[in-house]
Amino acid sequence: APTVHVASEVFPFSRTGGLADVLGALPAAQAAAGDAVMVVSPWYQDLADAGAVQPLGSVHVGGVGEVRLGHERRGGVEYLFLGMEEFARPGLYHPDDVQRFSAFGRAVLPALQWLNVQPRLLHGHDWQAGLAVAHAKLSDWPTVLTVHNLQYQGRWNLHEAAGWTALPDWTFQPDFAEFHGDLNLLKAGLVFADRVTTVSPTYAHEITTPQYGEGLEGVLQRLDAEGRLRGILNGLDLDRWNPRRDGYVMNYSGLRGKSSNRRRLREEFGFDRAPVLGTVSRLADQKGMDLLLMALPELVRSWNVVILGGGDPLLEAAFQGWNLHPRVAFVGGLNEALAHRIYAGADAFAMPSRFEPCGLSQMIALRYGTLPVVRETGGLKDTVPPSIGFTFGPATSQALLEACGEALQARRDKADWERRVREGMALDFSWNASAQAYRDLYAKILAEC
Ligand code: GLC
Repeated sequence: APTVHVASEVFPFSRTGGLADVLGALPAAQAAAGDAVMVVSPWYQDLADAGAVQPLGSVHVGGVGEVRLGHERRGGVEYLFLGMEEFARPGLYHPDDVQRFSAFGRAVLPALQWLNVQPRLLHGHDWQAGLAVAHAKLSDWPTVLTVHNLQYQGRWNLHEAAGWTALPDWTFQPDFAEFHGDLNLLKAGLVFADRVTTVSPTYAHEITTPQYGEGLEGVLQRLDAEGRLRGILNGLDLDRWNPRRDGYVMNYSGLRGKSSNRRRLREEFGFDRAPVLGTVSRLADQKGMDLLLMALPELVRSWNVVILGGGDPLLEAAFQGWNLHPRVAFVGGLNEALAHRIYAGADAFAMPSRFEPCGLSQMIALRYGTLPVVRETGGLKDTVPPSIGFTFGPATSQALLEACGEALQARRDKADWERRVREGMALDFSWNASAQAYRDLYAKILAEC
């Protein structure tokens, strides 16, 4: 019987962020270790247009309607896509997502039943899978819910939303799916899951405090006290992110090859010889990009700065304005090729995140010999050793500037900088350790159920 992952995005089929990268790598690592693994995800219109998925048939789900099933097999993993009215539009996320992913959550079990799949365990990811986890547990299946980001919870006025869920009435109270008069799909998943994990040990601790708990710290403290909450650090897809074989950059395994990429990146943006600070990020409050923005006037005195990312329209406009400065380059949106060139070509990489459940960019940067400048929080704290990268505590542009100053200082000492780069490139971020940790967790749950 397979382990069934449920998530709203999965690389390379759909992606807005790190969640998709995890779903693109963890199941494959589990399959490589010999487990049967399946991933259930929406059959978005963009994916249907690309024609990559094989149709299997369709199933009627009461209260939801006709659900078309599509599948695809890659790297030993079975992908099941649910084609529904709700996903017949461009893009992944929309303002009516609570309703859309309620329908998705209701369709997961019937789709698996139609295929005669009885999962060994259902492993949901983030709020979009919360309802599937709740329904799975109500059907007595073993379940795990992984929180990749606590800020997004899938909340909607309970009166309006209760009927979307097909949950029994007794669940609409504060011990279960109700949250300050709203339905909260993440909370529904949290309280029903046998175990809750998050994507780094430090974030697992942080979310039990009011500063990081997003109002759910009480629920999380209870889970923690019951031994049901833990952090398992994400790995990195080492095939996709490998400077020796990366198809987007001049391949390298050490400092010399890296400097060719640095030269090319400088030329691409007309930068001078000052060092390059790069970032690739969603432009969201979480990522602290406003701190980077406020630091720019001071930063450009010593650094060239390249920023790739999209999101908050105000931040985009503000960064766009800086494009007039010869030492600043901002490119809006997602751009896989440019992302790789920044990881390979920059000297340092900025992540001033207010919170960071794990973060993948800092691991990629390290592997590409680009030294991270990060806030000491969540996965950043767990993956960037201060002896290699540059870290700071307060979420202020001043603290960010000080850490960048430290980086400049280190750069003046060639031997020290090169040692940091070498040690960073040699760190092991493979998925093996995480896959093993999930395997142990599953075994524990199955022994209890
Ligand atoms: C979310 C988090 C990020 C994490 C990723 C994958 O995008 O913001 O920190 O690395 O999920 O778990």
